[in-house]
Formats: sequence, structure tokens, C-alpha cells
Amino acid sequence: MCGIIGYIGSQKVLPVLIEGLKKLEYRGYDSAGIAVAGRRHVRLCRVKGKISDLEKKLNQESLDGNYGLGHTRWATHGRPSEENAHPHQDCTGSFVVVHNGIIENYLSLKKELINEGHAFQTETDTEVIAHLVEKYFEENLGEAVQRAIQDLKGAFSLAVLSPLDWGKIVIAKMGPPAVVGINEGEYFISSDINPLLSHTRNIVFLEDQEMAVVTKEGFQFFDFEGKAVEKKVEQLSWTPLMIEKRGFKHFMLKEIYEQPQVVRDTISGRFSLESKKLCLDELGLSPQKLKHFSRVVILACGTSYHAGLVGKYFIESLSGIPTDIEYASEYRYRDFILDRNSLVLVISQSGETADTLAALREIKKQKCASLAVTNVPKSSIAREAQGVLLTHAGPEIGVAATKTFSAQLTALALTALYLAQVKGKLKEKDLLTFFQQLQRIPHLMESILGKAKSIQELAQRYHAYSHFLYLGRWVSFPVALEGALKLKEISYIHAEGYPSGEMKHGPIALIDEKMPSMVIIPRDRVYEKMMSNISEIKTRVGCVLAVASEDDREILSNVDEVIPVPSVHPLFTPFLTTLPLQLFAYYIAAIRGVDIDQPRNLAKSVTVE
Ligand code: F6R
Repeated sequence: MCGIIGYIGSQKVLPVLIEGLKKLEYRGYDSAGIAVAGRRHVRLCRVKGKISDLEKKLNQESLDGNYGLGHTRWATHGRPSEENAHPHQDCTGSFVVVHNGIIENYLSLKKELINEGHAFQTETDTEVIAHLVEKYFEENLGEAVQRAIQDLKGAFSLAVLSPLDWGKIVIAKMGPPAVVGINEGEYFISSDINPLLSHTRNIVFLEDQEMAVVTKEGFQFFDFEGKAVEKKVEQLSWTPLMIEKRGFKHFMLKEIYEQPQVVRDTISGRFSLESKKLCLDELGLSPQKLKHFSRVVILACGTSYHAGLVGKYFIESLSGIPTDIEYASEYRYRDFILDRNSLVLVISQSGETADTLAALREIKKQKCASLAVTNVPKSSIAREAQGVLLTHAGPEIGVAATKTFSAQLTALALTALYLAQVKGKLKEKDLLTFFQQLQRIPHLMESILGKAKSIQELAQRYHAYSHFLYLGRWVSFPVALEGALKLKEISYIHAEGYPSGEMKHGPIALIDEKMPSMVIIPRDRVYEKMMSNISEIKTRVGCVLAVASEDDREILSNVDEVIPVPSVHPLFTPFLTTLPLQLFAYYIAAIRGVDIDQPRNLAKSVTVE
């Protein structure tokens, strides 16, 4: 949801901003702009479109300087257009603002400001910030921003500069993330750490209600009341190489191929062969405490929600603890009943999803124990949850989540096994058997990836269909949802995921020769039921593609296409059955020629409600 970048130092600012914006582009990509500060005035360049369009426009203009701001937008208020692209300015052009978030009271603020004589140029909520800073400015930009943000309601992380108080970038955070990168004689502002990795590993994370004044000489942090705040400089472990494509055509394909390693990395160091026990001391919740939970509640959005659904089956089957799952966006507005015996698991790859973060804050108010499964170590959710289980997937740049899903499944399997261990639900030898099954998964994933060509050929045969049904039962039901989500979000083909037992209750009416069904049918406890569902589809001239166990001969004569996957413990089949569905969606999108890493209307990190 919009990316912000800022730089002050001795490098030429333009390449720093452009390179930074490219690394933030996954957050939003409908328009972009930069501002370069001169001593007397600020020069802007803005476009509707992507960073590549901004670059083209910049080739025709010379913007020189060592200090400026950049922005890539995902529109909330005001359609994507050049005028609505950030940075935004006040009436005089002296105050320049980039913003990520939503100013909820912007209409009333705008009305007041217009009454006071301010003239607005755009349809955005952000422009009010520039006019408020203009209104409150006396001689100190930090003080003006501090006064302006007192008037704002909503979520924001913002950065402001002005030639009237030259040599400063002022930033403030209330909701969406903001970080400061520190290097010798130069400072970076960013919405996340990705653009900073090639410059520095020294990062300061802003908390809500904190602001900073950054100059070439240093920085100072304050709270919104103006009181100085001491901040810790954190050292990052991610490397610049992690955010390169490394020869793959798209980040999504590279990330699909990284999954075996991601599962290995997420398992690594979490099982002691000596004691034959899982060691998850990092959770921040002692085994004694965990033992007493009689209920688990999982909250998440999108793909993380689908991982959570699989996690529910893991936890219930392995530890015997009743588990509920809810969309974080729904949880917030329900009268959800939680008690102190409930352990709440929040799942978010980015650790910044607004709904998940808000749900976590609700839970904390109710004094319930919370455990976050996230991929971003210092993200808001990681910092605010009581305990954290990190997925070691490395940065995910493709907007469609792939490797983080597998990493989440791994973390959830570990959590389920750990709960079983502390509750004494599994014998030592059974725990070891499950763990060994988990350890086999990367190797089995590699064998599926080795046959990607056949999935590419399948995509060639099916790319022209306009609708798909994805069907699964038990642990394959969330896989059906995830497979359908991948197809619709990157290829724009309508796809619906359904529990196959529900077919007869409505969706079967859709079946005809134009509606293929992708059926997830590994050999498991619902295999026979799934076979009956397949037969119901075939009777109605529906075409069936099946993701099935590779030793299943029976399936061959019952369906039109088979995507074989190796056998594993039935509970763990989602690790393997999801992978071909990711590849199928990827290859279909590639044939249809759409923008795979940045599908229309989407953004990687949804930091607004
Ligand atoms: C789909 C996708 C989204 C995210 C959702 C939650 O491919 O990526 O559905 O899963 O926006 O994001 P996180 O996990 O960052 O909370």
C-alpha cells in the first residue's frame, strides 16, 4: 500500500530514489513520483504508471541534488493519475509530502483549509497534510509536522521536506511501517528494509506515534508530543542478493523454486536429535504456559489465512487442541468470545497487514496470549505479539505469496508438533516420525519442481478457459482455496475454491464443458469420497484435472489430466499439492502475458483497512 523512500547525504539522490522505488514497487504500482530539494525550491516529477514510466520521464528532465523523496502509489483516495501521484505540495509549493495510509478525516480538514483560503490541486487525502504543514510552519519543519499530525485521524507514515527549512526530512508514523537506514554521512527513509539492503544494515524502526528529524549530520527521534525518544539501531541479517531475480524471468518463479530451501531453513535448528524433542524456546511462551491452553484461535488474511486453515488441521490432529480460524478483517467486527485459556496465533508474512495487526491489538487488550507467525523479523506484528515464530523464507517480492505459504505451513506444523509435545499427546517415537516426514518434504518438492515442464504444457492446453473450479476436502480444501486464489490473482481467470462435499449443494450447477475442475486428491482418508465427486463431475461432461499421488493408477482412467505428486504422510500433503497449483497459475499467467509479479489492483503489503 504505497512505498516511501527518502535520502539525504552526498550521493546523487535520483538513482538512490529510483532504485529504492523499484524495490518498493511491489507495495503499489499505479503511479509514482519523486521530489528533489534545491535550496530555493523543490522539483517534482510524477507519472501515472510504473517506476519504469517515471524513469522514462526523468530521462527528459535533469533533476540534480543530494536530498529528496520518492513514492510509489496504490490508490485509495483519488484515481491513479499524474495529479494524484505523490509527492504532494501546499499552496506555495514549499512543503512536499509523501504518505502511505489513509487520512480518515481528510474531508473535514480539507473543508476547513479551503475556508482558510488554501487551494487544493488533487483528489487525494494526502494533500491536506501539505496544507496543514504550511499552516503551522513558523521556522521549524519538525515542529510544523508535529502540529499537523495532531489534526490527523487514520493511518499514516509520512515524510516531509521543505526548502524553507533546508537539509531536513521529517517523518512520522502512525500505523504503516517506516524505517531509517544509517550510513556514514547519509540517511535513508523507507517503508521497508528492502531498498536499504544495498546501502546499509543499520536500521532504526519507528514505532507508532513516533517521528524523526533526519539531516545529513544525524537524526533525532521524538514522540508525537515532542519528547525526545532513545532508539536502538538494529543490525539486519537479510542480504541484497535475496532480493535479486537470479536468472529467473519473474520473482514469483524464483520464489516457487526457493520453496524446498525455505522449508529446510524454517525447520533448521528447531529439533534436537539428541533429546528427540522440538526446541521452540524462541516462542516467548514457556512449555508450562503452553500446556494450559485449551483452545487455539488463528487470525490471518488471504494466503496466510489459507495456511492458517491447514494449520487448524495440523493442530487439531497432532495436539488435540480445538482450533478456530477467522479472517482477521472479520474478527475485528465480531463479538468474538476469547478467554485466557485461548492461545491466539496471528499469521502474516509481511507482519504489517492492517487487519491482522488491528486484530492482534484487540487480543492484547483482552490480555490473551498471542503468537505471531511472520516472515519479517522486526515487523509491527513481530514486535507487538507476545511470542514470535519466524518463517525463514527471506524477502518475498512477487505480489502473489508462494514461498511464504510453504514457510507458514512449516511453522504451523512445528507449532502443532510442539503443542503435542508439551501436552504429551504424541509418543517420542511418533513425534520423531512426524518430524522425519517434515524433513523429507524439501526433497519431495524438488522432485515436483523437476517436472515443471509438464505443468507448463498443461497450462498451454488450459490457458484459454475463463472459469475454473478448485475442489478439495479435509487438508486439501485450503489447498483448493489457495490454488484458486493464485490463478485469479495473477492470470485474472475466475476461479472458485470449494470443499468438494459442498458441490452438490450448489456449485455443481456450474459444471459444463467450459468449466474445468482442478481436483486435489492425494491418497488420504477422503480419497473415495473425492472419487465420487469426480464421477459426479464427469457425468455432467465436466473436464477434470487432478493433483493426485504418483502411485495412484486408479485415477488415470477417471480424469482428463493428472498432475502427480509424491507420497507423504496424508496430513502433510498440502506442502506438495500446492506447489503444482502455483506453477499452473504462473504458467497460465505467463502465456496470457500479464504482469505476473505486479498483478493489477493488488499490493503486497496491505497496510490499510
Ligand atoms: C495472495 C497474497 C495475499 C496475502 C494477504 C495477507 O497471494 O499474497 O492474499 O496473503 O494480503 O498478507 P500477509 O501475509 O502479509 O498478512
